[in-house]
Amino acid sequence: MGKDVIVACDFAGKKEVFDFLDKFTDVKPFVKIGMELFYAEGPEIVREIKARGHKIFLDLKLHDIPNTVKKAMSVLSRLDVDMTNLHASGTVAMMEAAIEGLTREDGTRPILIAVTQLTSTSQERMEADLLIEKPLDEVVMHYASNAKVAGLDGVVCSPLEAGKVHEKCGADFVTVTPGVRFADGDIGDQVRVTTPAKAKEIGSDYIVVGRPITAAEDPVAAYKRCVAEFCD
Ligand code: C5P
Repeated sequence: MGKDVIVACDFAGKKEVFDFLDKFTDVKPFVKIGMELFYAEGPEIVREIKARGHKIFLDLKLHDIPNTVKKAMSVLSRLDVDMTNLHASGTVAMMEAAIEGLTREDGTRPILIAVTQLTSTSQERMEADLLIEKPLDEVVMHYASNAKVAGLDGVVCSPLEAGKVHEKCGADFVTVTPGVRFADGDIGDQVRVTTPAKAKEIGSDYIVVGRPITAAEDPVAAYKRCVAEFCD
């Protein structure tokens, strides 16, 4: 699995995202489209960005009964995205159904990764609200194993957890890691961050980078700096 930098295009609408992507003339970054942009613009935004030559990670975090997720995944597969995701807490049966739905007639399918526990969930909230009393890192690793058992390709996790996930689930189990900042950059609202170079050292396969690129004075230079630190 080749290493790549995925740019989180957290924009409110089409105009903002194309103003941003227009700056990239000689390179076509892998882009992440999340719920905000997808719900604002619909599936057409995926087709348009794809037609411009970008790979797409469609970050919609599906979670429903297996049959519904299977059908939704089959629609996403026809949109020709390169990577998409779901919540591992939907159970192994839901993840297996997702793979079935995602697999095209010719046997190919987008990369499918799982969200384990959201980083916004603390140990305290997991115990009080979800009645899960195991240590959070144990829950994260167990959900990662479930994803592997179900046949998924990997998980979204902190770059700091990427090494542990590889140890437990294998070197070819993909780790997609947000929470990346340049050594001399703003942390913003992220808590546990690493630089692209450190993420590479720990073993992330893909880093997801938003504001360090989208809010940079020169986004193309910031993107190229990420690629140089992480991929080269
Ligand atoms: O701007 P920034 O680099 O913080 O963006 C990171 C992206 O990764 C955002 O789209 C955010 O929603 C996503 N993300 C995250 N932490 C997670 C899961 C997803 O920052 N645990």
